[in-house]
Amino acid sequence: MDLSIIIPSYNEKDNIRPIVRRIHEAMASLRDVLYEIWFVDDSSDETLEVLAELAATDERVHVHHRNGERGLASAVVQGFKLAQGRYFIVMDADLQHPPELLPAMYERLKQGTDIVIPSRFVEGGSDGGLGPFRKLVSWTARVIGQIALHRLRRISDCTSGFFGLQRDVVAGAELDPIGWKILIEVLVKGHYRTVHEIAYSFLARDAGESKMSMHEQWNYFRHLVRLVSQSPSDRRFFLFCIIGASGVIVNEVVLSILLYGFHMKDTMASILASLVAMLSNYIWNDQITWRSQGAGRKWNVKLPIFVAISLVGILITTLVMHTCERIGLIVPIGQAVGILVSTVWSYVMNNRVTWREIEHRERGDIVVTRESASTAFTRAKSGV
Ligand code: GDD
Ligand code: MN
Repeated sequence: MDLSIIIPSYNEKDNIRPIVRRIHEAMASLRDVLYEIWFVDDSSDETLEVLAELAATDERVHVHHRNGERGLASAVVQGFKLAQGRYFIVMDADLQHPPELLPAMYERLKQGTDIVIPSRFVEGGSDGGLGPFRKLVSWTARVIGQIALHRLRRISDCTSGFFGLQRDVVAGAELDPIGWKILIEVLVKGHYRTVHEIAYSFLARDAGESKMSMHEQWNYFRHLVRLVSQSPSDRRFFLFCIIGASGVIVNEVVLSILLYGFHMKDTMASILASLVAMLSNYIWNDQITWRSQGAGRKWNVKLPIFVAISLVGILITTLVMHTCERIGLIVPIGQAVGILVSTVWSYVMNNRVTWREIEHRERGDIVVTRESASTAFTRAKSGV
C-alpha cells in the first residue's frame, strides 16, 4: 500500500459520497499508486450507514466506527494505527480541504519530504472558509502555540487539519493528544527533518456544520500545557520566566527589610536587593531550569556570565523603554515591552552560553520549504 488517506468524521452524511468521489478523481492522475481511504467515524446520525454502504461496494474505502468515543485528534491516532500505507494524508470529511491537492502532496512525500502541510498562510493561500471571529480565535491560538512550543514556530499553518507524512514520522512516537489539533502533537513528538508547505484555500462548507466549540479551544490550551510539560526545551523557558517573576518578589522583600529593618539609604538598598534577587535567580535556574546542563562548569564561571547577561538585560530594558517612549507609548508600557525583550535575550544567552552543552545535541535543524499557490495548482492540474 502506498498511501493511506485518513479522514475523521462526525455527522457528515452529506459529505461522505462527494469526498470519496473527488478523492478518486484527484488520484486518477497517479495511475499506479495504491491507496486506501480510512474513515474513523464517531457519528451519531446516518453517516455510519452511508459509510457502510460505500465500504461494501468500494474496496478502497474502510471504516472504523468508535462507539461513544469522541475527539478529532484521537480519531486520527486511531487512523494511524489502522492505515497500511507508506505515506499518510489526514484531511477533513467536509471538503473544506480540497482533494485536488492530494497528488502534489503525494509527490512530495514520495520524494522523501517527511511532512507536507497545505497552508492557508503561505503566499497565495487563504482561509476564506472561516468567519472573522473564527479567524481571530484561530490566529490567537496559533500565536500562543508558537510562543509555547518552538517546533511550531516556523510552521505557518501549525493548526491545520490537512497534512501528509511519512509513516515513519509517527511510528514509535507516543501520541497522546487532547481535543482536535493532531498536527501540533505530530510536530512536537514526531521524528522528522523536512517540512514542505503548499499554499491552498480553505473553502467554505457546502453541507453540514462545523463542530468547533469553545470547549475545543479549552482542550487546545490543555493540550499545549501538556506538550510543554513533556518537552524539556520548551519547559525550560517557562521555568525561566517563573523564576524571573519570583526574583521580583525576592527583590521587593529584601528591599523592604533593608529600608525599614536596617534603615539603609534607598539607592544602596535598591542595588543590594537587585543583587540578592539576581543571586536567587541564578541558584534556582542552576538547580531547576538547567539542572541537567552545564555539567562540569563551576559556579565561579557560570555566575559571572549570568550576572553579565542580566546586566546587559537591564540595559536592553531601558533602551527599549526609551525607544517605545519616543514612538508615543507611555513609560510603563515601554518598560513592559523592554522586560519582554530582555527576558528573551537572557533566556537565549543563558541557554547558549552559561549552561551550554546538551542544547547542542538537542537542536536538530528542521528544514522548512514553501510553495506558493500558483506552482501547487499548476502541478495538481497538470496531472489530471
Ligand atoms: N471522528 C471524529 N470525532 N471526527 C470529528 C470529531 C469527532 O469528535 N469532531 C469533528 N470531526 C471531524 C469532522 O467531521 C470533520 O471532518 C473534521 O473533523 C473537522 O471538523 P469541522 O467541524 O469541520 O471543523 P472546522 O472546519 O471548524 O475546523 C477544521 O479546520 C480547521 C482549519 O484547517 C479542523 O480541521 C481544524 O482542525 C482546522 O484547524
Ligand atoms: Mn470543517
